[in-house]
Amino acid sequence: MTDRIAVIPGDGIGGEVVPVAVRVLDAVGDFAFEYAEAGDGALAETGSALPDGTRELAANADATLFGAAGETAADVILPLREAVGSFANVRPARAYPGVDAFHPEIDLVFVRENTEGVYAGIESEITEGVRTLTRVTTEAASRRIAAFGFDYAAEHGYDVTVAHKANVMRRTDGLFLDGVAAVADERGVDYEPHLMDALAMHLVMDPTEYGVVICPNLAGDVLSDLAAGLVGGLGLLPSANVGPDRALFEPVHGSAPDIAGEGIANPVATVLSAAMLCEFLGHDAAAERVREAVLETLADGPRTPDLGGDATTDGAGRALLDRLD
Ligand code: NAI
Ligand code: MG
Repeated sequence: MTDRIAVIPGDGIGGEVVPVAVRVLDAVGDFAFEYAEAGDGALAETGSALPDGTRELAANADATLFGAAGETAADVILPLREAVGSFANVRPARAYPGVDAFHPEIDLVFVRENTEGVYAGIESEITEGVRTLTRVTTEAASRRIAAFGFDYAAEHGYDVTVAHKANVMRRTDGLFLDGVAAVADERGVDYEPHLMDALAMHLVMDPTEYGVVICPNLAGDVLSDLAAGLVGGLGLLPSANVGPDRALFEPVHGSAPDIAGEGIANPVATVLSAAMLCEFLGHDAAAERVREAVLETLADGPRTPDLGGDATTDGAGRALLDRLD
């Protein structure tokens, strides 16, 4: 059956890397693509960074492929994640042969709670010069992300670490940790809780000691970018925003205004996001083919300038597609 894919390239390099990923998907499967706009460009054109039609399309498609938004990112990606019902943000960060990384064996997967924490959007001004932010932690969301993370780790053969700061945020991260502990108990699985600041240091010093890292929202955002730095940059990190029925796939990077329009953005993060999309829709063989093509292209080149090469986005994309023929 043909899967309906909502394609939202967005701003900046989103519009450069998403077409490569679409061509890759076309080469490995049977997909019907429907395009929609979002981001700074959509705001300028339509008066809304996330037009209703775009949200509807994502809410009803089998899966969504998103590029990046610029200044309006929070107005776009947070409601889009909500539109697909996503609660888990999965961000794999692994080292690849041919790409300089801190350690050649790094293989990390951040499983980030995606709906609450300090990104719940509850900020206020008490009085001039004094503003507050409310952090939301629920038992239900904590258990849900823990269950997802433990399942993912079991399926893919990783140990589990849980990032928290319950020594300071005693009630909120305390509840988060209680939720994790309850789920681990039910499943009879082990994990290691880890203070998130110390974990940041250990991820740099001994990255191969870790596998799946289950994180509250903000910690997952920060630690996964740190991991991007360990493996060669944001041009390599894909992500999935997974819900019970639908999911949205996007590179971890943003619209990269510093290189947008130059045609040199690395398409790998978005192509690997497309591989995760294939896997989510049950096309495991297609996902594997895409990953193999990425591995070979990174190992043999051509590589884009962020990885020390001189290929264009198109050149790297063509090399990938050649390997899929
Ligand atoms: P960014 O991820 O856009 O760029 C950070 C650095 O990484 C830049 O030097 C950029 O050139 C480089 N980079 C990123 N992706 C690359 C790729 N595929 N190939 C080669 N180099 C790449 O983050 P930044 O600069 O903090 O934000 C720029 C804009 O993107 C902002 O307006 C921000 O709001 C937005 N943003 C959007 C996100 C989203 O839509 N999910 C996520 C993060 C930022
Ligand atoms: Mg981020």
